[in-house]
Amino acid sequence: MRLGRGCPAIAGVVAALCVASAVLLVGGAKGDEPVTQLSNGFTARHSPDASAPFEPVLYAPNGVFAFGFLRVGEASLDLAVVHLASSFPLWRATPARVGDWSRPATLTFDTGLVLTGPDAGVLWRTLNIVGDTVVLLNSSNLVVQRFARPNAAWQSFDNPSDTLVLDQNFTVSSPPLISKNRRFALKLSKTYMALHMEFYAGRVRPIYWQHTALEAQPENATQPPVYGRLDGRGFFGLYLEGGGEKVDVLSFDTFVQNLTGAFRRMTLEDDGNLRAYYWTYDAKAWTSDFKAISAPCELPASCGAYGLCVPGAGEAQCQCLTNSTRTSLPCSAEETTDLCGGDDDDSHQMFDVVRRKRVSVAYKEHLPFETNKTAEECEQACAANCTCWGAVYNGGSGYCYFVNFPVETTVYEADDRKVGYFKVRKPQSSRRGAMSRGAAAVTAALSLILASLVVAGAYIGYRLWERRRRRRRAAGYPGMEQELTSGPYKDLKSMGSSNNSFKS
Ligand SMILES: *[C@@H]1O[C@H](CO)[C@@H](O)[C@H](O)[C@H]1NC(C)=O
Ligand SMILES: *[C@@H]1O[C@H](CO)[C@@H](O)[C@H](O)[C@H]1NC(C)=O
Ligand SMILES: *[C@@H]1O[C@H](CO)[C@@H](O)[C@H](O)[C@H]1NC(C)=O
Ligand SMILES: *[C@@H]1O[C@H](CO)[C@@H](O)[C@H](O)[C@H]1NC(C)=O
Ligand SMILES: *[C@@H]1O[C@H](CO)[C@@H](O)[C@H](O)[C@H]1NC(C)=O
Ligand SMILES: *[C@@H]1O[C@H](CO)[C@@H](O)[C@H](O)[C@H]1NC(C)=O
Ligand SMILES: *[C@@H]1O[C@H](CO)[C@@H](O)[C@H](O)[C@H]1NC(C)=O
Repeated sequence: MRLGRGCPAIAGVVAALCVASAVLLVGGAKGDEPVTQLSNGFTARHSPDASAPFEPVLYAPNGVFAFGFLRVGEASLDLAVVHLASSFPLWRATPARVGDWSRPATLTFDTGLVLTGPDAGVLWRTLNIVGDTVVLLNSSNLVVQRFARPNAAWQSFDNPSDTLVLDQNFTVSSPPLISKNRRFALKLSKTYMALHMEFYAGRVRPIYWQHTALEAQPENATQPPVYGRLDGRGFFGLYLEGGGEKVDVLSFDTFVQNLTGAFRRMTLEDDGNLRAYYWTYDAKAWTSDFKAISAPCELPASCGAYGLCVPGAGEAQCQCLTNSTRTSLPCSAEETTDLCGGDDDDSHQMFDVVRRKRVSVAYKEHLPFETNKTAEECEQACAANCTCWGAVYNGGSGYCYFVNFPVETTVYEADDRKVGYFKVRKPQSSRRGAMSRGAAAVTAALSLILASLVVAGAYIGYRLWERRRRRRRAAGYPGMEQELTSGPYKDLKSMGSSNNSFKS
């Protein structure tokens, strides 16, 4: 192993992380060739004092991609396949428990690939596979292979993180694409692809964007499901599994330009948008030629929780539903639990209500709704249901849409008949009388501790008083000392056990 070149220039829209000051080379007879294959038994150590944020251990034959240790954020450690010219991680292992960059970690390849932390704890591993070699293909696909088998035992293309690249199949059985901040997901269903918000640790996943394959027939049960693939000609194609019949294309801006040979990726970004990019070698930059959602106000969280997005000719503006004079975001903290506090009486005491005119949500066609309602009926239906956080009503059509997840960004619409009803969780302190069982238990425990302190204080005070009294008396009445000290201790014990007044 030898140290090579410096940091390549960073350009474009990706987060700047200077890559690869260390280049792994195979020493010895074969000469200084970059490592393009790992054999069973391979081990690499991450050095905690490494200054470059990426330590490659394996290169693609075309030299465009490398696989290795990646520093994420301030100090987290992950494994990644990186596009070297841009430092962009095309794939990440994203273990449930991330490593710590400032501590040693080991990558081993025996039964599968395994990332081990300093305490010998496994941070991430490829499950249930046996392989002889690991290679990084020219496509950026990281593949674990067996000598005797043509098919990959494991490949990164089947386990995407937030990005798809050229020729990577995205199927109904693929894990969803998850944005880096873990708030959004892209999933493929039998006949459509959809973007979802993630709430309550993924238990509730409402759709905010959907694209149905034009020529797929949802009602045809014998038709196989669709899969998607990014095409070098500048589109995302949807095909039928098995035959590969093309049933739809999402075409990009460059589709008409006949721009071939460019490397492309499609990434689900932290703002919830799905964007496609191509890499231009001359400009050394990623250029976007597709986004699923074009209007900023249609992004589900453009103004954060309880934000109101006001579309404008120039730029969209954010206001707050709860406080119209507030100018700084976020308007409200993100909610992580619903309003179902216990019995029905409790749940009503858990929230205040905000009503607004001229408001709607961008993705209302994906929300559950009821028709032929009055505004009051619409409100009441939401008020009565503790999983409901809000309702938007269209007085023109009588449609009532329910927001059964924490309120995110709403959209201004210049129509007085469009009204919104939103629940806002009350601050803990103002919910008197609605104390949950947990809170009651904590209060009781605190009362007991307080009681003990009071008792202890009384005892210490008594002892001090006693000592002073004894000292005073000792001069006149010698021999009384023992009798006097044993008495109050017994009193104290009985006081502690019969003490009901402190229990609340
Ligand atoms: C990968 O790229 C290298 C360099 O461009 C080329 O020599 C090699 O044939 C490619 N491998 C495959 C399998 O296409
Ligand atoms: C993607 O799917 C096509 C058609 O099913 C298949 O020929 C190809 O090998 C797949 N690619 C990968 C990388 O699995
Ligand atoms: C259902 O789909 C299959 C496979 O695509 C096709 O052969 C068949 O004709 C379709 N049936 C109907 C009723 O459309
Ligand atoms: C598109 O590119 C291909 C290959 O580079 C070329 O053969 C074809 O003529 C081009 N078509 C147009 C319309 O430019
Ligand atoms: C509204 O926001 C402004 C500015 O942040 C703040 O000063 C004010 O106290 C807020 N009002 C309420 C009722 O929260
Ligand atoms: C709408 O509601 C009204 C009054 O509740 C009822 O008379 C009417 O039949 C309803 N219309 C439809 C289409 O359900
Ligand atoms: C409350 O809303 C949820 C989510 O839409 C729904 O499944 C449930 O049936 C509703 N409960 C009642 C009592 O309406």
